[in-house]
Amino acid sequence: MRVYTTSADHIQQVSQLLLNGEVVAIPTETVYGLAADALNSVAVQKIYEIKGRPAHNPLIIHVRSSESAERFVHLNPSAHKLIHAFWPGPLTLVLPKKDCIPEIVTAGLSTVGIRCPRHPAMHAILEQIDRPLAAPSANPSNYISPTRIEHVTQHLEGRLKYAIDGGPCEAGLESTIIDLSEENCPKLLRPGPINKADIESVLGSTLFDPKKDAEGTCSDSDIVTSPGQLKVHYSPHTPITLLKQHESFPQLKADQRIATIHFTSKRKNESEENPSVSSFTLTSCEDPKEAANNLYELLQRIDAEGFEMITVDPIPNGPEWAAIRDRLNRAAS
Ligand code: TXA
Ligand code: MG
Repeated sequence: MRVYTTSADHIQQVSQLLLNGEVVAIPTETVYGLAADALNSVAVQKIYEIKGRPAHNPLIIHVRSSESAERFVHLNPSAHKLIHAFWPGPLTLVLPKKDCIPEIVTAGLSTVGIRCPRHPAMHAILEQIDRPLAAPSANPSNYISPTRIEHVTQHLEGRLKYAIDGGPCEAGLESTIIDLSEENCPKLLRPGPINKADIESVLGSTLFDPKKDAEGTCSDSDIVTSPGQLKVHYSPHTPITLLKQHESFPQLKADQRIATIHFTSKRKNESEENPSVSSFTLTSCEDPKEAANNLYELLQRIDAEGFEMITVDPIPNGPEWAAIRDRLNRAAS
């Protein structure tokens, strides 16, 4: 794999590769993305092949500005409000697509996920090519998203030809996704770096949560059955068990090596006295941003070390932990 830097010269070379229909792993403020020209169906097809992603799981597109978003989707007043508040940044909006977006990008859906990233390298490329980039996370389908260039090179070597090293990603978790395709029923499809409460306060209305609100304000047929909402996703190869409050540590078999994840460095429990248990701290004092930033890096590191099981301490309560809870639940299911 040829790994470029974020120098102006390399950004220009990578922009040319993308215009030529190549696929490049590019850093964003959330995770690394596997990018191709969204208006070039042949290039987009390569993304599905490199990831081993099922053809029915749609991609999101990345644009340089809100003005350019109007070329590809039908914006409504709620979209304008959220774009004004949170773009550029880790917020993806699902909106009715315009005809220029090829069907392969949306897996045949009439809607498309769109976001304007704020990472300087991704942003510079979007400015140069002046075309939208389709980009899912740059990991093999169903594995953990990459937050460091090493994750990309390690898991996509031999399948992907080009990548940019932009250092560690700032947020470390994928963008928050809001479905605004029915404006009177905005839905939270994926919790992420931007909190539900902050979005609700800008919208001035409550978000429908398809996972929780079975009896919500929208009819059943409104519940999004996008394959991306499948439960098993973002999983390490090592099995994960989420411990409940007051649940005692599992009985270990002889020679069983276990990794255990804590949310504070102060915590002392029975596991720490057992020599076959290795402790890892996601955040030193229950800081959800720090935990998000470390989560995938830690899971990748633990996965590479050949433990038989990962246990996770009870996740702290509170809405600011929603994205971490979502990813750990998926990883454990
Ligand atoms: O932070 C991010 O969003 C990263 C960076 C690279 O931008 N991208 C990312 O893409 O996480 P991906 O493909 O790994 O996750 C996007 C999710 C998928 O679960 C997909 O099923 C869902 O969004 N999705 C895409 N288009 C959709 C649509 N029209 N309706 C509902 N869900 C959609
Ligand atoms: Mg992904």
